[in-house]
Amino acid sequence: MTSTFHFLPLCTLLFFIISPSSLAQTSFRPKALVLPISKDASSLQYIAQLNQRTPLVPIKLTLDLGGQFLWVDCEQHYVSSTYKPIRCHSAQCSLANGNGCGECYSSPKPGCNNNTCSQFPDNSVTHTATSGELAQDVVSIQSTNGLNPGRVVSVSNFIFTCGSTFLLKGLASGVKGMAGFGRTRISVPSQFSTAFSFHRKFAICLSSSTSSNGVMFFGDGPYVLLPNNDVSKSLIYTPLIKNPVSTASAYTQGDPSAEYFIGVKSIKINGKVLSWKSSPEDSIFMNGP
Ligand SMILES: *[C@@H]1O[C@H](CO)[C@@H](O)[C@H](O)[C@H]1NC(C)=O
Repeated sequence: MTSTFHFLPLCTLLFFIISPSSLAQTSFRPKALVLPISKDASSLQYIAQLNQRTPLVPIKLTLDLGGQFLWVDCEQHYVSSTYKPIRCHSAQCSLANGNGCGECYSSPKPGCNNNTCSQFPDNSVTHTATSGELAQDVVSIQSTNGLNPGRVVSVSNFIFTCGSTFLLKGLASGVKGMAGFGRTRISVPSQFSTAFSFHRKFAICLSSSTSSNGVMFFGDGPYVLLPNNDVSKSLIYTPLIKNPVSTASAYTQGDPSAEYFIGVKSIKINGKVLSWKSSPEDSIFMNGP
């Protein structure tokens, strides 16, 4: 059997269903969220911009499709009145699969607090990870009805990990961290789904051009791309395969991979079947950024 990859005129649309849905919390409930995605001309990384902190600051992040969570550099210019470290042994710590209990021997600040739950922020471009404090802060994003942008909504306790300035090495200029979209409870799409009671679905349309943006939708379709193309009607589906072994740069034994895998039987390019040794274990490794 042959798998054929379908390309939309403007971009490739990837569509993911994470797992069954979960709990509610806000009064205005958006139907879906939208996030423009640009392509950085020099690194060719895909970049998203989210607003975080109080007062809100626009933060550029490299998209990491298989990343476990959002991480940002907390060492430089992290100022926020709503920053909250996640305590060891708390419910949020277990939701985040926290792997340790951190102490910090300098004055308390974002990224440096005692009795905090830690994780491994991972730069998947350079395959470098470090240990960092898990925390919560406000994140805001634009809602949409699938067609037109709607009001800006926010999640007050968005979970993320504090990375370090050195971990930004290899990321696009101006970027302050990575936005992980993988299959974990605290990935960016999982947290939006939980906060707004969406189905656990998101869609990414990546532009091949550095001069025109792509877009990401969180929640249900329609996913309308200009001029008036509801791409949610033309999607094809394939099962996502779980990999029980972590593919992160640093992990705890027994952790599953947060990346999405698909089973591929063969690859055809321009009608020609690529010759490769296929085995039942082969799967295509769909990694961001
Ligand atoms: C953490 O606790 C140690 C020992 O009590 C103390 O020296 C240090 O200043 C504390 N750090 C922070 C960030 O509060």
